[in-house]
Amino acid sequence: MKIRNLLILIMVAFSNNVFAQNNINLMPFPQNVTKNEGQLMVSGNWNMYYKGEYSPMIQEAMGRFVTRFKNASSKKLQIIDKAENIKIQINKITINDLGIDNKEGYKLNIDSIIIINAATDEGILYALESLNQLLSVYKEGVGFPKVSIQDYPTYAWRGMMVDVARHFIPMDMMKRNVDAMAAVKLNTLHIHISDDEGFRIESKKYPQLHLKGSNGEFYTQAEIIDFIKYCKLRGIEVYAEFDLPGHSQSWFAGYPELAAEKKSYTPGPRFKIDGDKPVNLMSLVQMINTTPTPSLDVSAEATYIFLDNLTKEMKPLFSKAYMHMGLDENNGVSWMRNPKIVSFMQSKGMKTHQDLQNYFAEKFSNIIEKNGLKPIAWEEAFHKGLNKNILVQVWKPGFMGPTISIDTISVNGNSSIISRGFYLDVFMPAYYHYLNPDFIKEKSDNKLLGGEAAIWTELVDESNFESRVWPRASVIAERFWSSNKLQDIENMYERLNVVSHKFAWDGLQHITRVENHIDQFTNTQINNEGKKLLSLITPVKGYKKIMGLMTKPEAIRPPSLNELSDIIPIDAMGKWAFRKQVRLYLQNPTEENRLAVQQTLESWKQLSAGISKSGCLLNIQQHADNVSSISIQLLTYLNAKDDIMKSNIMKQISAARTPVNETELAILDEFEAILTGKLKDLDMSLSIF
Ligand code: ACM
Repeated sequence: MKIRNLLILIMVAFSNNVFAQNNINLMPFPQNVTKNEGQLMVSGNWNMYYKGEYSPMIQEAMGRFVTRFKNASSKKLQIIDKAENIKIQINKITINDLGIDNKEGYKLNIDSIIIINAATDEGILYALESLNQLLSVYKEGVGFPKVSIQDYPTYAWRGMMVDVARHFIPMDMMKRNVDAMAAVKLNTLHIHISDDEGFRIESKKYPQLHLKGSNGEFYTQAEIIDFIKYCKLRGIEVYAEFDLPGHSQSWFAGYPELAAEKKSYTPGPRFKIDGDKPVNLMSLVQMINTTPTPSLDVSAEATYIFLDNLTKEMKPLFSKAYMHMGLDENNGVSWMRNPKIVSFMQSKGMKTHQDLQNYFAEKFSNIIEKNGLKPIAWEEAFHKGLNKNILVQVWKPGFMGPTISIDTISVNGNSSIISRGFYLDVFMPAYYHYLNPDFIKEKSDNKLLGGEAAIWTELVDESNFESRVWPRASVIAERFWSSNKLQDIENMYERLNVVSHKFAWDGLQHITRVENHIDQFTNTQINNEGKKLLSLITPVKGYKKIMGLMTKPEAIRPPSLNELSDIIPIDAMGKWAFRKQVRLYLQNPTEENRLAVQQTLESWKQLSAGISKSGCLLNIQQHADNVSSISIQLLTYLNAKDDIMKSNIMKQISAARTPVNETELAILDEFEAILTGKLKDLDMSLSIF
């Protein structure tokens, strides 16, 4: 076994000791699972046998499992061609025999041997991913808990949208992302491949799209073809979004004749704030509504010839039979400033820019359908006359106005998917996504196919892409796959912590990249106090950071995503164990429960001194001082409860809520609960400023 693997194994074993031994650490959690007594230990080399016809996906999934098994156990798993002396048997059998009315389902039984039954390649793939997650470290060695699982997804469309336009995400990173997607049984990748900032795929038909519409960062067609193959072997189908008619500045760098406003263009953000002072929210909203943002000239027939040719060229490159047209956030101002477009609208009896947008949706969706694909659009496209074949992707959060209901879309005859509440870039912890109201209510009999997690990359680049997406995307995957009855946040975080380390073990760089980035700011390696403190800090929540950025002119923006709030994860994993301790203590203030809280507070007393010694250049001293000082006072308070002291500590907690460089402490509600005796509910609001 490689030393690195050994270290991670030890880390997994000890950091999650109690949980690893007592729970079924699967994410997404299975629909039906029975835990039996004991474990099946890996005590020597094993044999695995597959009964069924081999396909490339089965071969790949088995091969991947063999490697992971060896990395984890340092034992060999041999694939053999007869059912003799085997420890793992995989059977491909018909759905009728399986008793699960679902093509992606599987049964997995771990007793004296492991038996997997599934009707499809996908079912077998998912069974092996579950088996890999179950591979655990026990005191006695490596093994599997004895379980009996019958599993299948709640929703068929389990996706992730990745914006590669705002910041380009290189292929090796996209592939690691796909490995992790398969591990949590996601099956759809939506690549947001063009936006104002970049056109990120090679076009042979219209080469100025990628040559002038990107900064040289785009995927060649050969790379895309290789990538789609890679995804297919992992059960993931891929489709592209060409976001039109707005969000299209990059197209016009090479083809300005396509634009509603004829001038020269370079790829870049739609809005530019002049001067060197941030603007306020009112001015920002006004700018969003009134600025003539780059838009396609949708009145010109030549535009549709271009789109038809491009659709023909792009169709064979992707695997899912869909194309996304975008249709979001187009204010129509540049249309209204073009007399030719205005007279076109008059000739067709169109009154508003929305009428013209509807016209475009109809024409572009017909092109997509004529080319054998199905159209998708963001929710702004929705209206009663919308082509019934357009799949509607819901995204707008409540603060942007009345939210659209899935039933309304269904009644109109359109299917839908939901990304509302699943934006990974808005700096909300995993629980926020997990408790998404659209998914924890009873599943309706409407045309909701599922959903997509979404990662927009205005504040994400290759330095933090993996840590912005993972491990939080796993809980969204659980919402798509598992029962809506699963709503226990503590249990979710405990499982999330285990699978997150498992992903690191299997090659995802979401933990190591954060650590390496932080080490850069200490010139050597961050010390233990630094690590401890960073597990208690998050970037400011909600839209605060992105709004802060949007209201700043370029002159005063940070030059790169290199601040503490860009580096640290969105979830402060150190919070959750403490929150559980505080909850148990408040519910049942026994000596044992009090001691657990005290021990944690004790362990934070030295954070302030430790950080000041470490030479860490990240701006975290203020947070460290607050945690240490409040911990010391709470320890005194727990021994002799005193009202004056309580009021002083409350004041200090309140002061500690002020963000430092767009970061905040994640344990202040728990501190406060020790004083008030009541733990506040988790905050589900999306702050804007
Ligand atoms: C979107 O977030 N503009 C779809």
